[in-house]
Amino acid sequence: MSTHIDAPAGSIAETVLLPGDPLRAQYMAENFLTEVVRYNEVRAAYGFTGIYRGQKVSVQATGMGMPSIAIYATELMRDYGVMRLLRTGTCGGLAPEVNLRDIVLAQAATTDSSMILNTFGPGVSFAPTGDFDLLRMAAQIAAKSDLNFHVGNVLGEDQFYNDNLDRGKLADYGVLATEMEVPALYLLAAKYRRQALGIMTVSDHLVRDEHLSAKERQTTLNQMIELSLQTATA
Ligand code: HPA
Repeated sequence: MSTHIDAPAGSIAETVLLPGDPLRAQYMAENFLTEVVRYNEVRAAYGFTGIYRGQKVSVQATGMGMPSIAIYATELMRDYGVMRLLRTGTCGGLAPEVNLRDIVLAQAATTDSSMILNTFGPGVSFAPTGDFDLLRMAAQIAAKSDLNFHVGNVLGEDQFYNDNLDRGKLADYGVLATEMEVPALYLLAAKYRRQALGIMTVSDHLVRDEHLSAKERQTTLNQMIELSLQTATA
């Protein structure tokens, strides 16, 4: 066991999907995996292991924001030997070419997070980068599945409610969408030399003030979950 994950050794797969929401972790495990075992319920940050197309996969809820995902990602890699981590979540569209229901594959992540800024000290701006093999695989599968998807830079921000951040300017520089976890995940994957990728559905468009209904959210999430699982087990 580790500080925040109460799982016996060997009960977590080498490949883990990381939704923020514990109930979404449960939904993913119950609807997409077989032979499901729940290995964690500390803080209701549920973690499940099951089988997808013959391969062992885990789903671990991370909570929202970089401090929270950093705890789970660190313990998964350091204490449970997890090799591949795929964040499967939602994001808010920023760039004009991004539409509701599209999928964003986070090639890189821009951030205002002190976690990234402080790791190497003043003057060094570390570039959190997604794993190329996972990215290429996800893009291939998304293309074959006829999904509308984008590959590029995302904003991983520290505050959901932040009036001081000029998201429009970031969109002008090609930043596709905003979310709150990917930079820390990529930083830690680099530290532990593991593979990580953020795969996200556009649930809202912040510039155009558009939002998916609860029902639409579910259907589009299903496509993203399938894409993440197929990428994870390819
Ligand atoms: N901001 C940050 N994360 C998000 C958003 C947002 O607007 N929408 C979905 N995840």
